[in-house]
Amino acid sequence: VLRSVSDLEIVNKIVSPDGFSRSTVLAGGTFPGPLIRANKGDELRINVINNLYDTSMNTTTSIHWHGILQHQSNWADGAAFVTQCPIQPNASFLYRFTVPDQAGTFWYHSHLSAQYCDGLRGPLVVYDPEDPLADMYDVDDESTVIVLSDWYHRPSPQMYNPPFNPDSTLINGLGRYPGGPMSPLAVVNVVQRKRYRFRIIGASCDPWFNFTIDGHKMTVIEVDGTEIKPVDVDSLAVFAGQRYSVVVSADQPVNNYWIRALSNFPNQTFDGGQSSAILRYSGAPDTDPTTEHGPYILPFDEASLQPLFDAGAPGIPELGKADVNINLIPGLDTLGLYTLNNVSFIDPPLPILLQILSGRRHPSHLLPKGSIYELPFNKTIEVSIPATDLSPHGALGGPHSLHLHGHTFDVIRVSGNSSYNFVNPVKRDTVSIGTQANNDNVTIRFVTNNPGPWFFHCHINWHLHKGFAVVMAESISQIVAEESPVTPDYWWKQCYPQGS
Ligand code: C2O
Repeated sequence: VLRSVSDLEIVNKIVSPDGFSRSTVLAGGTFPGPLIRANKGDELRINVINNLYDTSMNTTTSIHWHGILQHQSNWADGAAFVTQCPIQPNASFLYRFTVPDQAGTFWYHSHLSAQYCDGLRGPLVVYDPEDPLADMYDVDDESTVIVLSDWYHRPSPQMYNPPFNPDSTLINGLGRYPGGPMSPLAVVNVVQRKRYRFRIIGASCDPWFNFTIDGHKMTVIEVDGTEIKPVDVDSLAVFAGQRYSVVVSADQPVNNYWIRALSNFPNQTFDGGQSSAILRYSGAPDTDPTTEHGPYILPFDEASLQPLFDAGAPGIPELGKADVNINLIPGLDTLGLYTLNNVSFIDPPLPILLQILSGRRHPSHLLPKGSIYELPFNKTIEVSIPATDLSPHGALGGPHSLHLHGHTFDVIRVSGNSSYNFVNPVKRDTVSIGTQANNDNVTIRFVTNNPGPWFFHCHINWHLHKGFAVVMAESISQIVAEESPVTPDYWWKQCYPQGS
C-alpha cells in the first residue's frame, strides 16, 4: 500500500501468474502493481523510477492515473506523446496531483504503446472520509479490490498484428490457462453474515468480462468513481478501463463459491477454474469450489444506472443541441490502422502539451494533423460514436471501450438502448460503444472546464496502439506553462535525452 508520497519503481521481472513464466514490465515488481490509496483532497506525489532494461519490450514508460481528472495538472496525466515524453531508462518523473473532488475506484497503467499488456497496471482507490455511501450501506469491510485482467504469454511487441488472443484471464494477478497447471487462484475471504464493498477494476488490454459470484447477488453503488443509485444485479459487464463498486452480503452457507470473469474471447472458458477466483467463507476448506453458475435473474442493464445525485446532462436536452457537436466514426484503413473520421492517430514527435506550451495555439499548427479537436472553454460538448463494428468479433474487433481523459462525461445514450436520457444519465469516464448490429450510437456530453490536451481513445490497448484515438485540445488559450512545475528546460531534456 502506497500513501501520498512514494517511489514507484518500474521493473522487468519474470513472473508466472498463471503458471507460465515470462518477462514482464511491472510497477513495484508485482502484478497487479501495489494498491495506491489516497483520501479525497490529498495531494499525491508519485516518483516513477524507470529501471527497465529488457529490450524485448518497451524500456521507456509513462504512467496514467485512469479516471483522475487532473484539474490544473494536465502535465501529470501520463499520456506519452500527449502530455509528456516517455520516461527514459534510469530516469524518473515526479507525478504530482490532487484529488479534490473525487472519491472511488480508479487505476493506473502504462500509457506508452501497448506496454500495460506486459503487466504495468495497478489499482488506485480514493477514500472519502465523509463517504455518503458508507451510511447508506453499512458495510463491514471495504478493503477488497478485485482486479480483472487478460494475460499474454508473449511480450506485447510480438502481438501488434492480429490475430492475438489472451492466454488467460487473471483475477488479482492469478489464473490458469487452457492446458496449463492447476496454478493457485485468488481468494477473497469473507465472514458469514458480514457485508462487503468489493471494488472491481476492468484492467484489461482487450476483452470485456462478464463478472459473477456464484450464489450471490451484487448491489452496484459506484461506476467509474461516481456514486450511483443502488442497482441489484447478478452479473456485471466490465469493459477495459471501467470500474464498479458492489455491495455483497455473505448471506449463504459457509462454503467456497466461484467468482467468475468470463471474457468475450471464445478461447477463455471456466473449465478447470480458468477465468476464476474463489469467494471463501471463513470456516470453508482450502479447496476449489464446486458451485454452479447462475441462475441469472437480475441482468445487468447499462440504461438502469443513474447517478446518486442527479445533475442532468449539461446543455439543451435535445440531440445535437450542445455548443459543440462532434461525430467520431470508427474505421479501419488499408494498413490495418484504426481511424476516427478517417484519420489514424500517430504519436507526434513532440508531446501535444509541449507543442502548445511552445506557442502553437491552433489545431492546424498542432500535430498529428486531423486528430486534434479544439474545444472552447466552458461549453457543452456532445460527442457521438456510432458503432461501425459487426461485433463481437467482426472486422473492427469490438465492442470498443472509449475513454476520455480529464473528465467524467454524461452518457446520454448508452449502448443497447435507443432512447436518449438528458435527465439522469450515468456518468463515466469509459464507455462501451456497443455494436453496429444493435444500431448503437453512444453519445456523451461534458463541459469544458479543464484546460489541456486530453486523450480520447479506445481502451483496447492494441487499438490505441494502432491509432484509435483523438485528442480533445480543451481551451488552448488557457493552458499556461506556470501550472506545470516541469520547466521547459526539463521538458527538452526529457524529450531529447541525448541532447539533439
Ligand atoms: Cu486508462 Cu488513456 O487510459
